[in-house]
Amino acid sequence: MSTNSVTDFLLRRRSVVAKKMIPTPPSEEHLSAILACAIRVPDHSNVQPWRLVVLKAEARRKFDEEIIFPAAMKRAEESRETLGEAMQQTEKTRMQRSGAVVAVLFKPVLPHKIPLWEQQLSCGAVCSHLLIAAQSYGYAAQWLTEWTAYRHEVIDALGGDPDIDQIAGFIHIGAMEQPPTERKRPQADEIISYWT
Ligand SMILES: Cc1cc2nc3c(=O)[nH]c(=O)nc-3n(C[C@H](O)[C@H](O)[C@H](O)COP(=O)(O)O)c2cc1C
Repeated sequence: MSTNSVTDFLLRRRSVVAKKMIPTPPSEEHLSAILACAIRVPDHSNVQPWRLVVLKAEARRKFDEEIIFPAAMKRAEESRETLGEAMQQTEKTRMQRSGAVVAVLFKPVLPHKIPLWEQQLSCGAVCSHLLIAAQSYGYAAQWLTEWTAYRHEVIDALGGDPDIDQIAGFIHIGAMEQPPTERKRPQADEIISYWT
């Protein structure tokens, strides 16, 4: 198969799970470029139904302390569970597993001639671009939703309207302790067909 530097990279890139990252932040220069790549996505009719919120440095700890941990405690209470010491520690440091987190908020523009589905697809592309751009610089990166993407308090804290907006993902960016092992990948002949 003939490749170029982009396809060569795409055929090898791999996510690194956030809990295995070293929480080293990306450089400011790289972060700016990663964010610029992220908002340069296919977007039918230029709707821009997405907002990016960066959590870096001290803001990660503040977000964990003021938003994630209280939401985790409330969530546990709602399901009549008690969070043990270890789980509480996990929730207190959820956004600090990596060096920076980009939260991608889906803000649909409605009513609009561009269907909701197409706006959602464009938002997914923003997440993909973030992930791929970060990985292209050699950072460890992962796209996560976890329980946090589905809590009203978290959407609200990121500037979204919990009745309308959604979190498409948290893109964690950090450093790699060791290269990840490959995961099971789809068999091309089971997924791809050629209509004749
Ligand atoms: C929308 C979305 C949400 C995801 N959320 C999680 C998650 O909460 N927890 C998790 O372990 N993996 C989650 N993943 C999967 C991983 O981030 C990633 O897709 C997987 O590890 C393989 O990635 P790779 O093809 O870049 O190596 C999510 C993936 C997508 C597309």
